[in-house]
Amino acid sequence: MVEKIPLLDLRAEYAEIKESVDASIRRVVESARFILGDEVTNFEKDFAAFCRAEHAIGVGSGTDALYVALKTCGVEAGDEVITTPMTFIATSEAISLCGAKPVFVDIDPKTHNLDPNLIEAVITPKTKVILPVHIHGYPVDMDPILAIARRFNLYVIEDAAQAQGAEYKGRRVGTLADMACFSFYPGKNLGAYGDAGAITTNNAELAKKARLLRDHGRTSKYEHQVVSFNWRIDALQAAILHAKLPYLEGWNRRRHEIALTYNKLLKNSGAQLPVIDEDFGSVWHHYAINIPKRDDVQKKLKEKGIETGIHYPIPLHVQPAYQFLEYEAGDFPMSETVAETTLSLPMYPAMTEAQVQHVAEILLGVLSERASDE
Ligand SMILES: Cc1ncc(COP(=O)(O)O)c(C=O)c1O
Repeated sequence: MVEKIPLLDLRAEYAEIKESVDASIRRVVESARFILGDEVTNFEKDFAAFCRAEHAIGVGSGTDALYVALKTCGVEAGDEVITTPMTFIATSEAISLCGAKPVFVDIDPKTHNLDPNLIEAVITPKTKVILPVHIHGYPVDMDPILAIARRFNLYVIEDAAQAQGAEYKGRRVGTLADMACFSFYPGKNLGAYGDAGAITTNNAELAKKARLLRDHGRTSKYEHQVVSFNWRIDALQAAILHAKLPYLEGWNRRRHEIALTYNKLLKNSGAQLPVIDEDFGSVWHHYAINIPKRDDVQKKLKEKGIETGIHYPIPLHVQPAYQFLEYEAGDFPMSETVAETTLSLPMYPAMTEAQVQHVAEILLGVLSERASDE
C-alpha cells in the first residue's frame, strides 16, 4: 500500500492540543463576549511578547494586517510601495486597495526573497514604503533595506505572514521595521480555525493609529475620529490562537529539525536546497526546493502518495489581475525561474523522522529515474 504523506496535517496538530483549544472555545462561548475584550487583549499581549515587540494589534486576517499597516503609514492614492513579485497576492492587493501602486523588484533565487540591491533603482518621489516579505518563513536581509529606507525617509513594513518566530541576526521578525504583518490563516505555523491576523510594532504612535483604524476609527463606543472600517480579530480566534501560542516555539524547532534532515538526505539530489544560515533563522513555513521540470516531478510524487505544493507558480507581475501595471514576462527573470522550478515538500511539526526519510527516498528515486531516462 502506498503511504500517503500530506503537505501539512492540521488534524494531527489538533489531536495534540485538543484539550486546551476546546476549553478556550468553550470559555468564549460561555462568556458570550465575542468582540474584542479580554480574549483579544490577552492574546495580543502574549503574541507581542513572543515577537519581542512592544505592541500587537489583532485584525481579521493577514490581508487586513497589510492594509491597516499601509494605511497607518499614510499610504494613499498615487503613492508607490516597493515589494516582491514572488509572494501571495495579498501583499500587493493591500497596496492596490490603498489606491497605491505596487512596484516590484526581483528576488535573490537562493532565498526567494526580494533582493535589497535592486531597490534603490526603483525609488521615486512617490515611493512611501518598502514592503519585504519573509517568504517561506525565511527572513529577508533587512539591514540593507533599513539603511536605504533611512536614507530616503521611507517606511518599512514586514510581511511576516509566513514567519512567526523567525529571527534575523538574533532579532525577531515583527520587530525589524516600522510595522510587521502576520497571518494566522489555518495552515500557518500559528494558525487560527478561520481567518485572523495581527500587526506588531515598537512604535507607540503607530500602534495607537492601527488600533483606531482596525475598529471603525473609534475613540469610544459611538465616537469616531476617522472614517475607517471593521478589521477586528474575532475573540474566538484570539482565544484559539492564545491556546496554541505556547506550542509555537517547539513546533518551529521541530520544523527546523525536519529541514536539517531534508537538507542532509537530499544533499546529492541535484535539486537546489534551501540555505541554512545562522543569521537567517527560518521557521520553515515551507520547505521549498528548486528543480527543473518541476511539474513532472510533482506528478510522480503524487502517484507515490507524496503531496507537495507550489509557492508560487505565477509571479505577481504576470498575473492577469496586474496586467494594468504593464509589466512583461522577462522583467523579473529570477522570480520567473523560481516560479517554474519551486516545489514545497511536506512540512509540519507532527511529521515523524520515518516520514521525512520516506519523502526524501521517494524524491531521490523519482529524480534518479528521471536522470536515467534523459
Ligand atoms: C506572504 C503572505 N502575505 C499575506 C497573506 C495574507 O494572509 P491572510 O490569508 O491571513 O489574509 C498570506 C497568506 O496566505 C501570505 O502568505
